[in-house]
Amino acid sequence: MEIEVKGHSGCSINIMRQGKDLYILKGTKDVKYIERLYRQAVKQEKAAKRKYQFIRIPSILDIKKTDSEMIMQMEYIYAKNFIDYFENAGFEQVDYFIKAIDIFLNSEINNSELQRISSDVVKDKFFDVKHKIESNIMLNNDSIIKDIIKQSEIIFGNIPDNLYIPIGECHGDLTFSNILFNGNNYYLIDFLDSFIESPLLDMVKLRQDTCFKWSVLMYTGHFDVTRFDITCAKIDAELDHMFSSHEWYRDYYHPFQLMNFLRVLQYAHEPKVICYLKKVLINILSDE
Ligand SMILES: Nc1ncnc2c1ncn2[C@@H]1O[C@H](COP(=O)(O)OP(=O)(O)OP(=O)(O)O)[C@@H](O)[C@H]1O
Ligand SMILES: [Mg+2]
Repeated sequence: MEIEVKGHSGCSINIMRQGKDLYILKGTKDVKYIERLYRQAVKQEKAAKRKYQFIRIPSILDIKKTDSEMIMQMEYIYAKNFIDYFENAGFEQVDYFIKAIDIFLNSEINNSELQRISSDVVKDKFFDVKHKIESNIMLNNDSIIKDIIKQSEIIFGNIPDNLYIPIGECHGDLTFSNILFNGNNYYLIDFLDSFIESPLLDMVKLRQDTCFKWSVLMYTGHFDVTRFDITCAKIDAELDHMFSSHEWYRDYYHPFQLMNFLRVLQYAHEPKVICYLKKVLINILSDE
């Protein structure tokens, strides 16, 4: 038996029954995506071996990669998405979630080492993203976007020659849409390689949702917006407070969040998404 589940990317996601157990098959035949999905599977397989309190990672049962196809088989998690979960969660449950995230990030930080990163890594990334934005026909004639790029260029031009940030472990795409909520346990899926494997990037991705509500933009169902906003404001304030105990977070959260949204912008084609990204980027730049 196979049931198709809708995801955001070009990947196919199917639920498969084997005996009494359910599994997820995530696959792609898109040659551009095969390597990326393979690295995702390997990263998740490695992460699933670690133990965290409240945070779980579905185990990978099989990875099949050929030149024309890649399929990973993983444990099926019977869980809620972030909207359905927060719609019914009281503040006590929201506190559990914050605690779980705190434990997870502290574990990532403990397994990482503070390393020197040359500003060239960040500057090169910025120029790569700038080039892609300037090549995107939906973006390259927009005066607001030109201004966003100009202001960003000044910010990345001014970052110190050496950045000291923890490098070692990170999920890579830690947004609400990649967390499955099951009571007080939270399952992380959809791991991704990032240009710097740092817990700082997971903090940035989490606040992409708690502060800027990216995943809501992608959500098509109805929900109580006010209630969700109150929940997000609480989570965001507490995460920001916790993360601020790290000097590297205080120093680099803003430029890294700016880079994060510029990276989202480079591939944006939908007017609704572009409009949202412009507002968010203006907001981030006004905080700089
Ligand atoms: N192990 C799992 N158990 C239950 N449901 C899952 C599992 N993995 C994925 N899903 C379902 O499929 C949806 C999409 O999964 P996923 O986030 O891996 O793909 P995606 O966002 O489409 O892909 P990508 O970000 O790699 O382009 C999830 O939101 C969830 O509903
Ligand atoms: Mg996903």
